[in-house]
Amino acid sequence: MSVRRSVVAGWGGYLPRRVVTNEELARRVDTSDAWIVERTGIRERRLAEDGELTSDLAVHAAREALRVAGMAPDQIDLVIVATTTPDETFPATATKVQHGLGMTRGAAFDIQAVCAGFVFALATADNFIRAGQANGALVIGAETFSRILDWADRGTCVLFGDGAGAVVLRAEPGDGTNRDRGVLSTHLHSDGRHHDLLYVDGGVSSTGRSGHVRMAGREVFRHAVANLSAVLNEALAANGFVADDIDWLVPHQANRRILDATLRKLALPERKLVSTVDHHANTSAASIPLALAEAASDGRIQRGHLVMIEAIGGGLSWGASAIRW
Ligand code: UT7
Repeated sequence: MSVRRSVVAGWGGYLPRRVVTNEELARRVDTSDAWIVERTGIRERRLAEDGELTSDLAVHAAREALRVAGMAPDQIDLVIVATTTPDETFPATATKVQHGLGMTRGAAFDIQAVCAGFVFALATADNFIRAGQANGALVIGAETFSRILDWADRGTCVLFGDGAGAVVLRAEPGDGTNRDRGVLSTHLHSDGRHHDLLYVDGGVSSTGRSGHVRMAGREVFRHAVANLSAVLNEALAANGFVADDIDWLVPHQANRRILDATLRKLALPERKLVSTVDHHANTSAASIPLALAEAASDGRIQRGHLVMIEAIGGGLSWGASAIRW
């Protein structure tokens, strides 16, 4: 059976130039390099400069993804930006990215699912492509999370970083089997009962200010480990795969201990894990496409490989996808 598949044709990542080490943070808040490394695996993160906006990071990543794909902006019908830190309350940051790329056609909009945003955006773009409503899509995760951190809260401010990553999806015919290239399936979940575990204490309709990240870290950790292994198993089963079929696990990069726990639950060897959390920290919606771009650019992820992505974040919202590269 011939089906339309969303094949990953290009990828790109962009990080702000400014590197902030744990030692530098330890001069600002009551923390230490040893605590941060032991509890999270994070050693450094990038932070955007004043005036460097989410859309600026996104445009850089998108240009790189188009270059790798060998595609021109006019071959793109859809620009989706997953972000929790839009430039402005409106319009969608995606429209600024579209303009920054020199595009005047197609549709551009944002998706908000916090750290799970890239998986939600990928699922949306894939469904547009499967339905025949788009042939080329830019799926971007871009964040300046530093702008919503409480720099006096050591429990959160050490965990996050800024950055952007992008993939280009291109419609290509497949056989409808799990050997096809492209996005094989996407699996999304939300459970709003857990709002209070991870949220921002402000917003347009509540306080009129953007607010700061509040997190019950230990509780989120618990949900993360349980939900991520469950949704990965759901994605494997939906395609008739077992964990052994995975070539690369590219998880949302929140905490090295969560990544290790997920590996253990799936009985996956560490060599199949793409981990960037040590040098990117948690870049929310940007973390998966940044990690994909890093591992595809350095030759680890190759054409034909089975790549599994997964993420969880505020909402709680979580999801996974199986992608044949
Ligand atoms: O991407 C969205 C999803 N987010 C996540 O996945 C985050 C999930 N949670 C985590 O990664 C971990 O829970 C954290 C890294 C946030 C915290 O690690 P933890 O092992 O759960 O520590 P904790 O929150 O239970 O805190 C342990 C101690 C506390 O001190 P007391 O009460 O035991 O005296 C904290 O006050 O560590 C203290 N602490 C710190 N100490 C030094 C908290 N933050 C820091 C810090 N530096 N930055």
